[in-house]
Amino acid sequence: MKLFESIPLGKLQLTSRIAMAPLTRCRAVDQNTPNEIMVEYYRQRAGAGLIIAEGTSPSPNGLGYRNIPGLFNQRQLDGWSSITKAVHEKGGRIFLQIMHTGRVGHTNNLPEGARLLAPSAIAQKGEISTYALGKQPYPTPEAMTTQEVHEAIQEFRTCTEMAIEAGFDGVEIHGAHGYLPNQFLLPSRNQRTDEFGGSRENRLRFLKEVLSECCAAVGSDKVGLRISPFSYADVDDEEQELIETYTSVVEMLNPFSLAYLHLSHMGDPVPVKFEMWQSIRKIYQGTLMLCGDFTKETAETALQESQADMIAFGRDYISNPDLVERFKNDWPLSARDNSLWYGDGAEGYSDYPNYNGE
Ligand SMILES: Cc1cc2nc3c(=O)[nH]c(=O)nc-3n(C[C@H](O)[C@H](O)[C@H](O)COP(=O)(O)O)c2cc1C
Repeated sequence: MKLFESIPLGKLQLTSRIAMAPLTRCRAVDQNTPNEIMVEYYRQRAGAGLIIAEGTSPSPNGLGYRNIPGLFNQRQLDGWSSITKAVHEKGGRIFLQIMHTGRVGHTNNLPEGARLLAPSAIAQKGEISTYALGKQPYPTPEAMTTQEVHEAIQEFRTCTEMAIEAGFDGVEIHGAHGYLPNQFLLPSRNQRTDEFGGSRENRLRFLKEVLSECCAAVGSDKVGLRISPFSYADVDDEEQELIETYTSVVEMLNPFSLAYLHLSHMGDPVPVKFEMWQSIRKIYQGTLMLCGDFTKETAETALQESQADMIAFGRDYISNPDLVERFKNDWPLSARDNSLWYGDGAEGYSDYPNYNGE
């Protein structure tokens, strides 16, 4: 099967075309710092062709959710180093997803001195869990000054450098699902009047500069990007605006020669827009990864039909640390249990066994 074929990624040679999708698990309970159970959790999943480690903030301002990890200080770097070492010792490969939450956060979740910043002072719809106040409506963020936009771009660069220092094989910029780079792309959330807002070219500038800085820092073969055209975060803009924006994004990407482009789709309530994926496949010249609701069979079909070069699995990797072996041997998958996705400690996290014949 094509799924189990080895594939080059930048200068790496991956053992299969199966990736573990980035999964926020909220276990970094002590000052957003990776810990021992996280080492164990990633070690168990080192059989993936590529692990994309969970969304990790490059800045105190990007820690909008409870207990997500960061990578902007030495303790966090040391914590991540233990994880990359454990994965490499088992022959695995691991990228870090850099996720700045921007307006998708709550001031009660931010550390002291951090601020809820976004392109414009427009609140995200809905509610968010907080440390001390339970569920709360998303607050209205502060609009960043132009200077603060430049500072945020530098935070992505510094985080990328720290990721490589921590032993990651590369980074994935989280440009999907409504987080900071995504917040700049569309007029519903970006109403700036400086060079980072207004025209489409201006709205793409933040993402372009983040990619330029990160590629300049560590090499484009170590930088990937995730986007999610027409995802649940894209409900406030016109269809034509979305098509044109995402087409422009992908056209902008070709000259970068990134490690890969990762397209994500997450089930309900928005159906996947296959035409968009197909048109991106035609425009994009590099390695393309798809994610969202794939099974072993549909993943194989997508590869056979050349819709993509790699497939990432999210929820199945939570309950099946040995997913590649299970696919290879046609072993059954253990059931999904979403009650502990964002829950406490090792339970529902690092206590899923490998297949044991039962
Ligand atoms: C618990 C959980 C946490 C997630 N965290 C992230 C994240 O940190 N970054 C991201 O880009 N996507 C995140 N996602 C989306 C997944 O990466 C993936 O796109 C999604 O689960 C669909 O793939 P699947 O059908 O194989 O599960 C998360 C999904 C789940 C279920």
